[in-house]
Amino acid sequence: MSVQQKIDLAIRASGSISIQDFVEISNFSKKDGFYNSEEIQKIGNKGHFITSPEISSLFGICLTNQFLSVFPDIKKVHLIEFGPGNGYLTLDILNYLKSKKIEVQKISILEKSDYFIKEIKKKIPSAEVFDDLNNIKINPNITTFFYSNEFFDAFGSKQYIHQNKKFNEIKITKINNEYKLVYEENLISAHLKNRYSNYEFEDKDILEHSVLIDNLLIQLKEKLKKNFFFSTTDYGYLKLPRKSTLRLISNHKKVNLFEEFENIDYSFGVNFEYLKDNFKTFKPKVISQKELFKNYLNENTYSENKDQVDKTIDMLGGSHFENMGDQFLNISFYSV
Ligand SMILES: C[S@@+](CC[C@H](N)C(=O)[O-])C[C@H]1O[C@@H](n2cnc3c(N)ncnc32)[C@H](O)[C@@H]1O
Repeated sequence: MSVQQKIDLAIRASGSISIQDFVEISNFSKKDGFYNSEEIQKIGNKGHFITSPEISSLFGICLTNQFLSVFPDIKKVHLIEFGPGNGYLTLDILNYLKSKKIEVQKISILEKSDYFIKEIKKKIPSAEVFDDLNNIKINPNITTFFYSNEFFDAFGSKQYIHQNKKFNEIKITKINNEYKLVYEENLISAHLKNRYSNYEFEDKDILEHSVLIDNLLIQLKEKLKKNFFFSTTDYGYLKLPRKSTLRLISNHKKVNLFEEFENIDYSFGVNFEYLKDNFKTFKPKVISQKELFKNYLNENTYSENKDQVDKTIDMLGGSHFENMGDQFLNISFYSV
């Protein structure tokens, strides 16, 4: 069954479907969803979009230097990557740690795409792969380095519209063979008002909130106790934009909602203020990808291949690729 048929079925069953479920079906439905389909080259020049680790190994080097700036004398580490896609980031981190004679005691991967799980097993056979964070075992005596790139932006999110001092949920329905957005009353409007009480919402403002990210954060808090470093980079914002951040990309180009249904990658801007708030006990730092490069690319890497490094910094830290330097943020925190 195609992605569109699955969406139509869900709409027929309940009258409408949430934006979150629509995106989850499109991205992850078995066999045909964007991330599971065998046919589509997903990420990379020949895929539908490009990511920092696919552009250059320098991204992994920066993240590792960020980790080593807190744990400079480390001898052994447990690596945990969330949503590795083709796996280049972990490969780059492994190579860099090896060059520094740091032993990687274990590699754990959280990935739910069947397509990428196969890629990871081919590229990094020693990695243990999980689709549930609860099942990843952590040894408190070994430092754990958690990292991800463009992981949270692939999670489906619900969207609400502010109308007459309430949040109504934006849902998708199909009438006379045409897809339409409808606004439905919902029970958590008061809860959302309370949760986002530091913002003044006007009529027609849009709020995005992902209960799927909430669930992951609950599991993550159980894992992040001590002796760890956490660093995640994503397309996102620190202050609620109060408008839709949903992006549809196919063949490196933006597509409109309902224009096409197959071979589309759906993503949302990530709310870094929310991530920061969730881990405030660890005093997280949020910086731009540009600052990540400025702060964590050391002299040695720079002097070894100045031209290539300059070109890559310009690409990943500058205004190419939809301004990856400023629109991509990095949050990091740790406990020793
Ligand atoms: C945009 S891709 C980024 C891939 C890679 N990190 C990169 O930078 O090239 C998002 C990745 O997160 C994975 N992913 C998204 N939601 C997930 C979830 N709930 N559990 C596990 N993996 C997930 C996808 O399958 C995919 O590998």
